[in-house]
Amino acid sequence: MDKLHIEGGNRLDGDIRISGAKNATLPILAATLLAEGPVTVRNVPHLDDITTTVELLGQMGVSVTVDEKLSIEVDTSTIDKLYAPYELVKTMRASILVLGPLLGRFGEAVVSLPGGCAIGLRPVNIHVDGLRAMGADITVENGYINAKCERLQGTHLNLETVTVTGTENLMMAAVLAKGQTIIDNAACEPEVVDLARFLNTLGADVQGAGTPRIIIDGVDKLSGGCYDVLPDRIEAGTYLVAGAITQGRVKLRDVDPSHLTAVLDKLREAGATLDVQESTIELTMNGRPKAVDITTAPYPAFPTDMQAQFAALNAVAEGRGVITETVFENRFMHVLEMQRMGAQITLDGNMAISEGVERLTAAPVMATDLRASASLVLAGLVAEGKTEISRIYHIDRGYECIEEKLHQLGARIKRAPD
Ligand code: EPU
Repeated sequence: MDKLHIEGGNRLDGDIRISGAKNATLPILAATLLAEGPVTVRNVPHLDDITTTVELLGQMGVSVTVDEKLSIEVDTSTIDKLYAPYELVKTMRASILVLGPLLGRFGEAVVSLPGGCAIGLRPVNIHVDGLRAMGADITVENGYINAKCERLQGTHLNLETVTVTGTENLMMAAVLAKGQTIIDNAACEPEVVDLARFLNTLGADVQGAGTPRIIIDGVDKLSGGCYDVLPDRIEAGTYLVAGAITQGRVKLRDVDPSHLTAVLDKLREAGATLDVQESTIELTMNGRPKAVDITTAPYPAFPTDMQAQFAALNAVAEGRGVITETVFENRFMHVLEMQRMGAQITLDGNMAISEGVERLTAAPVMATDLRASASLVLAGLVAEGKTEISRIYHIDRGYECIEEKLHQLGARIKRAPD
């Protein structure tokens, strides 16, 4: 298994391009199951989670072509299995996103339950209950969700918790349902909006995405089409923190700053200077960052997917910072690894309280989930000595060409076999 080796201490300085968003591409690829004609999805990032999704569609008999520039063409006319096996779902929870489209278009789906996860319980009860309310007959047996229906029926859904993939699954199921579906307490994340735009490109009628009430008027069929995925706001935020933590300068291209408001506000509070244009962000950090307090919550509040990266920033910042995690119940594994690098952070329930230290010291550390691994890379960039990060398969699920991009910014990082 490969490891990442990072020699800390370099000030980052340079420009990079931000890739297409993983968490928009995954539901969009699942939504191609709804289309009768061929669909081309562009600006797809080169990531392990995308490969898993392509495999998932492929094993259903769907024809998927990937070109070298990472456009993906999907043709569902050859589909012959309405099935997502445990072997794939266990490597990627987002596989659950095929449930809504399969049921909506074919009236049948067998999808493995995702099971536990390193960051929390992550149940899928809201997905299942919503589909039941739309008329699906669902049983859960032997670790699989078995779902069947005649045509789904539009209804009024009031989600008990804001859930991103839950909203997406139900929205996808509703586009071919009979009549109108209203989703209240819907997630407002930009990736939900991107999915709605994609569905509308194919002929769906989805209104209100980006607000807590989404209204979907069912149509009889979706056609093919072509769509460009939005930029990855979490990848963007991660590289901005890389600039801030190394007291450097980082300019991002092909980014949508309007999706990063909460993150940019915290970077300014930490002392960064930001030059924000329509599709670029340039961050300069002169001097040691100041610690910030953060509370994660659904969009437009501060994203849980940026919490670990700010924990790294706070670890070396001036003063005390309090991070409160309200979305997932167990998302502090990175803190335990950072403590091994000399970070002064204590955990108290869902809070991580740090007293910034002048410098971290390198140590062998282990990645436990995607964003935790990113935070350990950030910590490694400012640690004295050579940090060695194992289990980096987590990082390859969500960061396209991370070594190349960090190299381009002047970091000393390399991948090496164990
Ligand atoms: N929840 C339930 N029941 C459900 C669904 C969710 O109780 O049926 C709870 C979860 O346990 C959690 C909260 O609702 O406490 C919010 O979870 P959500 O469903 O929104 O998370 P998700 O849809 O599984 C997506 C992203 C995550 C991101 C979260 C929160 C994708 C593919 N994944 O997950 O991304 O952290 O939203 O913003 O979109 C990542 O990219 O590293 C990542 C983990």
